Amino acid sequence: MSNKLDGAGFDKNDLRLLTTFASQAAIAIDDANHYERNRRRLIEFEILNEISTEMANIDSMNSFRLTLVSKLKRIFPIDYSIWFTWHAEENSLIPQGASGTEEIPLTESGGIDLKKINQDEITISKIKLKKRDLSDISGLSSEIAGHLSGHRHYPNPTDAFMAIPIIRHEKLQYVACFGSENGELSYSDDDISLARLVISQAALLLEKERSLLNSTRLLTMGNMISEISHDLRRPLTSIKGGIQVLRQKLPDEMKNSDLFINVEEEVHRLNELVRELLDFSNPNKYETEKMDLRKVVDRASELVRPDMKKNNIEFQTDFDDANWDTIVNKNQVMEALLNIFINAIDAMQDGGVLKVKGCLETPDHKKEEYLTLKIEDSGVGIKRENLSHIFDRYYTTKESGTGLGLAVVERIMSAHNGTLSVSSKVGKGTTFKLYFPYNN
Ligand SMILES: Nc1ncnc2c1ncn2[C@@H]1O[C@H](COP(=O)(O)OP(=O)(O)O)[C@@H](O)[C@H]1O
Ligand SMILES: [Mg+2]
Repeated sequence: MSNKLDGAGFDKNDLRLLTTFASQAAIAIDDANHYERNRRRLIEFEILNEISTEMANIDSMNSFRLTLVSKLKRIFPIDYSIWFTWHAEENSLIPQGASGTEEIPLTESGGIDLKKINQDEITISKIKLKKRDLSDISGLSSEIAGHLSGHRHYPNPTDAFMAIPIIRHEKLQYVACFGSENGELSYSDDDISLARLVISQAALLLEKERSLLNSTRLLTMGNMISEISHDLRRPLTSIKGGIQVLRQKLPDEMKNSDLFINVEEEVHRLNELVRELLDFSNPNKYETEKMDLRKVVDRASELVRPDMKKNNIEFQTDFDDANWDTIVNKNQVMEALLNIFINAIDAMQDGGVLKVKGCLETPDHKKEEYLTLKIEDSGVGIKRENLSHIFDRYYTTKESGTGLGLAVVERIMSAHNGTLSVSSKVGKGTTFKLYFPYNN
């Protein structure tokens, strides 16, 4: 277990396996002592397993803290928790938040007012740490406890208190402190190592979820940049043309005017910038490979799984027997699918079903069959009069929408010699059909 402390994480399958295994073991062992130890182990695995599924829904440090405290409470009593971030340059711990029976907000000066957890007048501000070995938890705990108890009663030397460093990439990031006001109690070494394990795993999982979300965002942005760049190009070209005309009409004025020379230079610079943006956003525009479309659907759905979970959306796929290999640019098709999936998720704020049905179908105005992905949501739907606008650039009904997603999807489908269609019923849902050439 110890090598999992700051190193590689368990993945969800590991955890599921371990949980099953541990529960079997707990049942099999009847000796009371062993039973107790195994019962704890079982809780520990259960907690790790729960955390691995819940991290996807964590959207703030605040809910991260609350989730962890509520889990750890099942192992040992916690009356309050205090969280610090580590500022290496200042060698200091900065209070980040605390909770007692409820969440305790930071004071205006950024400290924590522990009156709110029934302590006497005490506000914790920045704590400067001595240079120390971070694996020495009891040393760290007593140093921080010392800072706190500098304020009269707190924490009582007999009270249970632990400070857990959260280390990522070999650097201290946070310190989480837990305490109980029950004078009879102190935390055991077992409690401490369990807290370390649970917290470090949770931090790791949170980081993974975050980077997954970021990569989804990046993937849907590539072609949007290029759509915008195309739009910048047109006015730039006409400005350039205008300057040419002026130069012919007013040759003398133009020659000696700093103003005009400036304008020309700036327009040139903007042009270069747009060209670079276009190159940058489409580095592998023309690279294609033979891919199983089902795999691309799987991968794209994996990336949006956390968002689907958050909105209570069930995801289903069903592919007819066919040769699903087709020549595509994988990233572009991913991007198209992600845009459609994300729209569907946006349209199902109160839950629903997102279905991908794969079949062979002949689109309107075509003669042959195409590999067809029918992507059907049970969301709010689109009004008939708006249906013809949804592929327009910048058409959006969302407060923070770009209106570029579907324009990008359309462009990607035609780059693949494919096509697409949409149908929708308000209140019932929307179905997009993506048609890819079928080579069999
Ligand atoms: N599955 C869907 N259900 C309902 N409306 C949709 C769906 N997909 C697209 N739309 C509508 O089409 C508009 C344009 O979509 P899009 O081009 O992706 O831009 P954005 O998502 O930024 O608004 C959305 O604002 C929305 O009104
Ligand atoms: Mg969109």
